[in-house]
Order: sequence, then structure tokens, then C-alpha cells
Amino acid sequence: MSSELTLALSKGRIYKDTLPLLAKVGIEPTEDPERSRKLIIPTNRKEINLMVIRATDVPTFVELGAADIGVAGKDVLMEAECDNLYEPLDLKIARCRLMVAIPKDKPLPQGRARIATKYINLTRRYFAEKGQQVEVIKLYGSMELAPLAGLADGIVDLVDTGNTLKANGLVPTEEIIEISSRLVVNKASMKMKAATIKQLVNELAAVVG
Ligand code: ATP
Ligand code: PRP
Repeated sequence: MSSELTLALSKGRIYKDTLPLLAKVGIEPTEDPERSRKLIIPTNRKEINLMVIRATDVPTFVELGAADIGVAGKDVLMEAECDNLYEPLDLKIARCRLMVAIPKDKPLPQGRARIATKYINLTRRYFAEKGQQVEVIKLYGSMELAPLAGLADGIVDLVDTGNTLKANGLVPTEEIIEISSRLVVNKASMKMKAATIKQLVNELAAVVG
């Protein structure tokens, strides 16, 4: 008999990129979470349910055991400083880089630069390790606007194609980390549902690009 498993993931990019991997291992949601108002989506495998939550909430659900497994960006995992979960697999989806960016032709000031970001912990740690004093301003989105609006000297944000930076007159200057999404597992679930989880991890590992 196999145990029930809940998989937490966010709508949008992560769901879109996880769906083909799930399909390759024979897991098909019975509803499209982008259209449905349901937050728990059953799948064709009756022991597996999807839980659709905000990207930044995935580590919380999995660490506290509200979901057995989850899919989360390395950026989200590192910013939340989660160490109470397992990270058995790099799914190699939603790949991008966390970077420092500044207005073209306007280097960061010598003194205490102001940096706007959603990633305040990663940003503080990065500049502290470089021995550079910065003032970190927390934003929840549209970081690229901050230098244009005079709110900050630079930003720390995710970059993929670079189009968003370019469209706002910014250039990337330093790479902080490479990002991809990871499969994460609750520690107690890994013990209690070992066979089911290990099988799923192995199946997914075999189809990761
Ligand atoms: P929330 O729902 O909490 O606001 P969000 O809007 O950041 O989260 P997404 O934009 O779907 O959610 O991003 C989810 C994850 O996808 C990020 O944590 C990151 O790991 C990755 N990601 C974000 N932007 C890109 C991008 N442009 N290219 C590739 N991967 C990205
Ligand atoms: C992400 C990120 C950047 C952009 C980078 O935003 O916050 O703004 O992608 O990608 P690019 O280098 O290919 O332009 P997203 O598209 O997810 O918008 P959101 O943060 O508002 O959801």
C-alpha cells in the first residue's frame, strides 16, 4: 500500500515547468490550477495531491509538514535560510541568476550604496562578505524601478534573458548565485513515507533534463 503524498508548488513559472516532469513520471493533475480556484488539486494518482501556494510559502509548508514535498527556487530556499528540510534533487527548471544591477554609466557610489531588493538576507550577506557597506531597502516587486525612481543606487534581482534590466536602462554587474528549482522534502515525511518518496525522487531524477 502506498502512502498519501502532498506536493506544494506555486502557480506560474514553477507550475508550468514542473508539469512536464510530472507528466513524464505519470502524474497528471485533474484540474488546471491556473484556472481552478481550488488550492488542493487531485491527480490521476489518487495518493498524490498538489497544493498550490505562493512561491515564498513553499519552504514553510514543507518545513512544518503541511506538505510532504515541494518545488521551490534556490533563491527562495536560501533567502528563507531553511535548514530543516531535505533537498534531494535539482529539477533544473526556472533557471536564472541572482545579480547586482546598476543604471548604465552610473557605478555604485564609493560610500554606503542603497540597494533595493526582495532578497534582503542574501543581499546583506553578499555585500558583508565583500566588506562593502550597503543600505538594503526591502521591496516586494518591480525592483528595476527603484534606481529609475531615485529610491536606490542599485538592485539585487533575478536575471534570465536580461530583457527586464535592459528595458529599464540597467546593466548586470555581479553574479551572486545561479538559481534553479529544487525538490524539497519534509524530514519526518522522508522517514514515514520513505518508500513512496524515494521512488518519486528516483523517477523524477531519471527525467530531469
Ligand atoms: P510570489 O508568488 O511569491 O510573488 P514570484 O512572483 O517570485 O513569487 P515567480 O515569478 O513564478 O514567482 O518565480 C518563481 C521562481 O522562479 C523564483 O523563485 C525563481 O527561482 C524562478 N524565476 C523567477 N524569475 C525567473 C526568470 N525570469 N527566469 C527563470 N526563472 C525565474
Ligand atoms: C522575473 C524577475 C525579473 C525578470 C527577469 O520577473 O523578477 O524581473 O523575471 O527575467 P529576464 O531577465 O528574462 O527579463 P517575472 O517575469 O517573474 O515577473 P514578476 O516578478 O513580476 O512575477
